[in-house]
Amino acid sequence: MKPKEIDREQLKAIIDRHRGKTWALIPLLQEIQETIGYIPPESIETVAEALNLFPSQVQGVITFYAGFSLEPKGKYVVRVCRGTACHVKGGRSILRLMRKELGLDEGETDPEYRFTLETVACLGACFLAPTMMVNRNYYGKLNPNKVTSVLAQYRKKKGES
Ligand code: FES
Repeated sequence: MKPKEIDREQLKAIIDRHRGKTWALIPLLQEIQETIGYIPPESIETVAEALNLFPSQVQGVITFYAGFSLEPKGKYVVRVCRGTACHVKGGRSILRLMRKELGLDEGETDPEYRFTLETVACLGACFLAPTMMVNRNYYGKLNPNKVTSVLAQYRKKKGES
């Protein structure tokens, strides 16, 4: 897989917007994660310096929160629930369909960095089982048609950056 190119200007602009705001570490990291698709490890020092923190503090927060990644992920991170409530409602077939539709296994990202497929122990929305998330959006009471139409929605967003 070719290494992901980073828009350094964009990264710098995000960091500059939060400069001096020590309290804004998490929102800043969230913005980098969502815009770039991951937190480039080489940006940790710059983030720390901009927020008057130690690099180890920034690194600690990134490691603590599962939503942050130091490796490139797709623009859309699909998280399929593999918890018990979802499992009994057919979660496994949702995951199978998702693997087929995306051509990805769990933990994989496509070469264009469009989609990453992950599974999670519980998305905390068991009453909507079977569930999945795409980035921060929840989708519940899934069935094969619904999965296909949700994916189509994200595939259509192609031109968007
Ligand atoms: S088990 Fe799937 S949301 Fe809780």
